[in-house]
Amino acid sequence: MRPPHPIPYQGSKRLLAPLIARHVPAEVQVWFEPFAGSAAMTLHAAQHGLARRFVIGDSLGGIVELWRGIVEQPEQTAARYRAVWSGQARNHADYFNRVRARYNRERDPVDLLYLICRCVKNAVRFNSNGEFTQSVDRRRLGMHPDRMRAAILAASQLLAGRVEFREGDWLQTSADATTRDFAYLDPPYLGTTIGRDKRYHRQLAQADLLPGLAQLNARGVRFALSYDGSTGGKHYGPPLPAHLGLTHLLIEAGRSSQATLAGRNECTIESLYLSPGIAALDAVPRDRFNRRLARAMPANAKPESLAR
Ligand SMILES: C[S@@+](CC[C@H](N)C(=O)[O-])C[C@H]1O[C@@H](n2cnc3c(N)ncnc32)[C@H](O)[C@@H]1O
Repeated sequence: MRPPHPIPYQGSKRLLAPLIARHVPAEVQVWFEPFAGSAAMTLHAAQHGLARRFVIGDSLGGIVELWRGIVEQPEQTAARYRAVWSGQARNHADYFNRVRARYNRERDPVDLLYLICRCVKNAVRFNSNGEFTQSVDRRRLGMHPDRMRAAILAASQLLAGRVEFREGDWLQTSADATTRDFAYLDPPYLGTTIGRDKRYHRQLAQADLLPGLAQLNARGVRFALSYDGSTGGKHYGPPLPAHLGLTHLLIEAGRSSQATLAGRNECTIESLYLSPGIAALDAVPRDRFNRRLARAMPANAKPESLAR
């Protein structure tokens, strides 16, 4: 059975979770997810008994508060989502914009949930004042409240009593992780941090990420990091430096939906880096993966473009 997924977040690891989870070490005490977003990996880990306790962290305060509401007050959160969602049937086309303005004034996490569900591609975008700026997707109504309630209640059942919520920068929210713990890291990718298409409310330059990874290594904290990838021939981001001692795997993330919409048949490859303390079980090493891709991929997606 698939884990519940109450927050439909662009960049969610819901579909990749089983592939990533294969590399999680046994007997993890605390599972840290400091770039949580929709916390897809935490939900997967909780459902499959991969850790005893969990820390959900994010620098976006609204999403951390939303998680607190989902886990600690599931019925109230589901009822409030129903009320906000139902308002769109009675109100005119401007309803989304009014909820957005209210969120930007009052920062109610349930308003944020509605905005995430109704906005274009479920892709949050913020301006420099931290205001939500993404527009409404007029072709969809957002997750139905019945489905949302089921997902919220199931997520609460999985996590209640064994999760802590932390708002802040990833290094602060995982500062107490030890050798018995595990951190799943999914920062904004380089390809979405530079250029025009900046996602999420904060970006993370590679220059800031690397010292943090070195710090985790020095403390013996085991971690897996999702970072960058490629779609078709287009590649995002340079490799991480060898001195970190990470094992670099490539995971086939399926067809790119954006490419499919544009009429191209391209597959998306994501990088997964494992910290030195983790054996790459059943891993497909990068080189072998590249050779396999060379046979399988269409001619316009040159496997060399994947070699770093
Ligand atoms: C790629 S998304 C994570 C998606 C997540 N794995 C999921 O399954 O939904 C990255 C998240 O990191 C958060 N973030 C960005 N910079 C951060 C930082 N310096 N510290 C903590 N969180 C940060 C963003 O708000 C966003 O929610």
